Amino acid sequence: MIGVVYLVYAGLLSAVLPVHNARHSPITQQDMAKYRDRVKSMFYHAYNNYLDNAFPYDELRPLTCDGQDTWGSFSLTLIDALDTLLIIGNTTEFQRVVNVLQDTVDFDIDVNASVFETNIRVVGGLLSAHLLSKRAGIELEPGWPCSGPLLRMAEDAARKLLPAFDTPTGMPFGTVNLLKGVNPTETPVTCTAGVGTYIIEFATLSRLTGNPEFERVARHALKGLWESRSEIGLVGNHIDVMTSKWVAQDAGIGAGIDSYFEYLVKGAILLQDEEMMSMFLDYNKAIQNYTKYDDWYVWVQMYKGTVSMPIFQSLEAFWPGLQSLIGDIGNGMRTFLNYYTVWKQFGGLPEFYNIPQGFTVDKREGYPLRPELIESAMYLYKATKDPTLLELGRDAIESIEKINQRCSRS
Ligand SMILES: *[C@@H]1O[C@H](CO)[C@@H](O)[C@H](O)[C@H]1NC(C)=O
Ligand SMILES: *[C@@H]1O[C@H](CO)[C@@H](O)[C@H](O)[C@H]1NC(C)=O
Ligand SMILES: *[C@@H]1O[C@H](CO)[C@@H](O)[C@H](O)[C@H]1NC(C)=O
Repeated sequence: MIGVVYLVYAGLLSAVLPVHNARHSPITQQDMAKYRDRVKSMFYHAYNNYLDNAFPYDELRPLTCDGQDTWGSFSLTLIDALDTLLIIGNTTEFQRVVNVLQDTVDFDIDVNASVFETNIRVVGGLLSAHLLSKRAGIELEPGWPCSGPLLRMAEDAARKLLPAFDTPTGMPFGTVNLLKGVNPTETPVTCTAGVGTYIIEFATLSRLTGNPEFERVARHALKGLWESRSEIGLVGNHIDVMTSKWVAQDAGIGAGIDSYFEYLVKGAILLQDEEMMSMFLDYNKAIQNYTKYDDWYVWVQMYKGTVSMPIFQSLEAFWPGLQSLIGDIGNGMRTFLNYYTVWKQFGGLPEFYNIPQGFTVDKREGYPLRPELIESAMYLYKATKDPTLLELGRDAIESIEKINQRCSRS
């Protein structure tokens, strides 16, 4: 949904960025219209420069201004931008890009691809654009939503991922060769998010195509994780998918785990699946009990519950939004405000923030323009209409523009 991501690593953010908490004026309807236009022009800046300088590679390298393949060889930025084109109302460009992708993208390629990344970016990007097409007024193929060019591409891509799920536990390998299947020397160690982040795309695919296999493997992988949780109800960071042994035993809500919890909640809502929601609510009890201190969440040992790292990670900023989705707005808002103070301290979120020290962690100072805190602000704003949440939106626009000006001047 973030469309084109500028890859900017801004070093020590506090040294680079002015902090945008000076203005505290309320945001008016007029401001909103202006910010909306600015966001659109930021999108076109990134999008047009990708097309001019990087297509057909996956991503633009903004400093050398050329293209490179990153997650495969899919013209990934175009796939990523599809739903954004619909949301900002550019249906002619959307149609053009659908034709280009149909003519150029081939998933029958000798590429070692991340199963997780290919699912969320490629399968997810194609499916969300396919489903948004109607509301955006695109001319639809007869039989839509069970038919259409983007659905066929999504199914092609997802089929290439299925061999990864053929393990004794049903939990997938992390990497698959799109042409040859799982490499014989592939490591059996996968992160938790890499096991539990398929149900939204795969259930959608199964229900649209009538092929139950996708949803079946995604559910089987979720069950594998659920059955591997510790006695105190936590999951670790990396698991051996051949034996179900935990290889990394840090439990928390951030890197390596994050979207497993996200997909349990969003999957439960999408599919109206009470079992998935009750799994999440059980995890949530253990997380609140063992990892939460003063509305911050830390990392703990998954069997003992003892604190292993008192760190807040930028990726964890999706959590307040997830709490609002389960109706826990009070907790969500309190944690959001903690995270927003970090944003204001640096003008962005550093990858790691040491909570007791109140500062960044060595070599983890950068902000690669992650959307998690912004997504949380969006969900909480929908639930509360609290104007503080719009201020985060304004700060994010200002910071991202500042980062890029610094970049193009250097
Ligand atoms: C849609 O995007 C294309 C490519 O950036 C641009 O040339 C065109 O003007 C846009 N159309 C609208 C209606 O904004
Ligand atoms: C994929 O990974 C395997 C195993 O590590 C390696 O032998 C092969 O060369 C890789 N293929 C590509 C296209 O990178
Ligand atoms: C909360 O943690 C305590 C130990 O600190 C434990 O005795 C209790 O069972 C836990 N409750 C839940 C719901 O996890």
